Amino acid sequence: MGEIIVCRCRDVTLEMVEKAIDEGYKTVEELKRKLRLGMGPCQGRTCMRLLAGILRRKAGLKPEAIKHHRIRPPVRPVPVGVLEVEAYEGED
Ligand code: FES
Repeated sequence: MGEIIVCRCRDVTLEMVEKAIDEGYKTVEELKRKLRLGMGPCQGRTCMRLLAGILRRKAGLKPEAIKHHRIRPPVRPVPVGVLEVEAYEGED
């Protein structure tokens, strides 16, 4: 079987996540800092859900024990020019 990608933005594989969990990284924040997953252009929209599932299965965590990462604005990637125009229009 080929590599299973967990975070396509940062090229993080399932094998890398499972190895990190075996090394003792067992929270979303720890894994995010170690592997940089969730820090790509999509801000973890896909990989954070996958990571939660891996933590439940591999680390035996219950869903309520998994703290999700903080999402910072903008929630969706936008071109910088869009922010500039909206900020300018708000200065009246
Ligand atoms: S898929 Fe992980 S940050 Fe985009």
